[in-house]
Amino acid sequence: MIDLLRKRRSVRKFESRSIEPDKIEVLKEALLRSPTSRSLIPWEFVLVDDLALLKQLSRSKKHGSGFLKGAPLGIVVCADPAKCDVWIEDCAIASILVQMTALSLGLGSCWIQIRLRQFDTKTTSEEYIRKTLSLPSHLTILSMIAIGYPAEFPEPVLLSELPTGKIHSNGW
Ligand SMILES: Cc1cc2nc3c(=O)[nH]c(=O)nc-3n(C[C@H](O)[C@H](O)[C@H](O)COP(=O)(O)O)c2cc1C
Repeated sequence: MIDLLRKRRSVRKFESRSIEPDKIEVLKEALLRSPTSRSLIPWEFVLVDDLALLKQLSRSKKHGSGFLKGAPLGIVVCADPAKCDVWIEDCAIASILVQMTALSLGLGSCWIQIRLRQFDTKTTSEEYIRKTLSLPSHLTILSMIAIGYPAEFPEPVLLSELPTGKIHSNGW
């Protein structure tokens, strides 16, 4: 795991080739193996590989989602908040675990924040995505994860560049 973390960077440019079905199956398994608080399993995942839909989803907010139209796969991470009060944590864990699994398969990925983001002044990103994908109204959305074969290779962060002052021992 530490070797994967040492390599991990967000990837926003992808090759156009699609992801092999066996790799998609592993990504699905990673999502479903994500732990949830009290095992209440509030999440739902919508896998999108339809290029027209990906293009529509890439417009979910003004900044920071446009690159989804160049990805062969997007995973919309949703939850039913009525099922668990800490659904945000559950969805965040699933989001990062699928990103790390993608990396382990030679794929790149980037998180697209949806919760608390706006499509425009009147419409939230969530409302826009809900309409685009016909999601039921009880679901709320945390993130979308863009995944594909990388077409850019950001440099790994060096050990000497880590914010080591953020680690505290036995109190502040
Ligand atoms: C909670 C969260 C939300 C993020 N939202 C976006 C986003 O909406 N668009 C985007 O391009 N990157 C997004 N990112 C990626 C971050 O910008 C990126 O992780 C950060 O700049 C560090 O770069 P690195 O991942 O290459 O180390 C998000 C990352 C996290 C953890």
